[in-house]
Amino acid sequence: MDPETTLSQNPGEHYATVPVPASAPNRATCTQPLPSYHGVMKTQTTEETSKSELAFKSASQVMPGGVSSPVRAFRGVGGTPRFIAKGKGACITDIDGNCYIDYVGSWGPLILGHADDRVVAAISKAAAKGCSFGAPTEAETQLAELIVSRVRSIEMVRFVNSGTEATMSAIRLARGHTGRAKIIKFEGCYHGHSDGLLVQAGSGAMTFGQPSSPGVPAGTTADTLVLPFNDLAAVETAMKQYGSELAALLVEPIGGNMGCVPPNNGYLQGLRRLCSEYGIVLIFDEVMTGFRVSAGCAQGLYDVHPDLTCLGKIVGGGLPMAAYGGRREIMQKVSPVGDVYQAGTLSGNPLAMAAGLATLRALAEDGVYESLEATSARLADGLESAAKQAGVPTVHARVGSMMCTFFHTEPVTDFASASRCNTQAYAAFFHAMLNRGVYLAPSQFECLFVSAAHSEEQIDQTIAASAEAFKAAAACG
Ligand SMILES: Cc1ncc(COP(=O)(O)O)c(C=O)c1O
Repeated sequence: MDPETTLSQNPGEHYATVPVPASAPNRATCTQPLPSYHGVMKTQTTEETSKSELAFKSASQVMPGGVSSPVRAFRGVGGTPRFIAKGKGACITDIDGNCYIDYVGSWGPLILGHADDRVVAAISKAAAKGCSFGAPTEAETQLAELIVSRVRSIEMVRFVNSGTEATMSAIRLARGHTGRAKIIKFEGCYHGHSDGLLVQAGSGAMTFGQPSSPGVPAGTTADTLVLPFNDLAAVETAMKQYGSELAALLVEPIGGNMGCVPPNNGYLQGLRRLCSEYGIVLIFDEVMTGFRVSAGCAQGLYDVHPDLTCLGKIVGGGLPMAAYGGRREIMQKVSPVGDVYQAGTLSGNPLAMAAGLATLRALAEDGVYESLEATSARLADGLESAAKQAGVPTVHARVGSMMCTFFHTEPVTDFASASRCNTQAYAAFFHAMLNRGVYLAPSQFECLFVSAAHSEEQIDQTIAASAEAFKAAAACG
């Protein structure tokens, strides 16, 4: 593939199209000068970044890329990552004292905003009683009950520590349940960094996957068929050929790791029908969409109900926690009731349970999702018309409070179309927004998340900033 148009299957490696300058300046690599700040916002510009630059140098000495997870290194947009000192509500402050309206929200968990008082109080109360016991606590049952009551397809839950663990464990369970080995996943859907899921499409349409990272043995991906997202005919063909050998089909019901890519009409329903027909376990990876796009997750929104669901991010209220759950008959195969082994020293951690409970309880209050929808629509509409006014070709996708502005001329429906985005233009836009006090994801292929803490005023400030930032992007073609 042409490296100029390559979108990696692995988030954090979505930087192939933006050369990172050796000096790592705080500007995009587009040769056009960025428009200057005209004081449209109360938030300050980010001209002063010396502390972050110094911190990044020190971090890079002792941590690969200076970060704990690749996308944070700004490789997708160039420049120095801001080191964050604190966050409150919709805003974060870096160690140089610059404030930003934040639309990353820790990559999705912070639907209530930073340091929400209810969540902080719940964590503090739990911490005062002890951080971990490695024994059952009532909070686990309470959170499991809450999840079961909200998500129709989930009858039982197992708590784990990350989305990676949740998807890895759900696949093992599906294989144990069916006695089959092969699975289907989709190009551009990300499910964490377990060996079997770091996979890219093979050389032919119906060939099994190749590792997408060195260090992943070919054998671990040899049972994974990688198909294009939103293409039901491809799934139908694959099932005709391999149906009786397939244990699971794993899908993000809304693609959230190639930007925001909603499912085509009838696509999820089609997956449900085909999985039932061939006895394949349908797994929705709702690590990102769970409790984000509706109180009943994406499955509630589209009224399509999988056999197993992976949850993460919001369900842990900002602490390292995730879960998988689903039909009782399948979940009863997990050890110690069944013989599909899966365990974790810190699983069901009391602090994470407290944060998750406080978050889900707050989300149950009247009008939360309605107000999130209104704020998110206001932002999406504002960004779209600002882009139009600046004459920048963009395509806007949104489901509830997750959205994406693609620098593209055609609708993005799958990995192939996402790969053709103008990542240079995104980088210019990103830096122009950052310099105006708006913190977006440092990659074209990530979603923007609105939280319940974002005010109308902050949304309007963001739209005002974007009017100028889109001009910077326009200069990049
Ligand atoms: C849909 C989806 N699944 C799984 C994961 C992996 O979760 P974690 O980073 O907690 O391992 C992510 C992470 O962004 C995700 O977006």
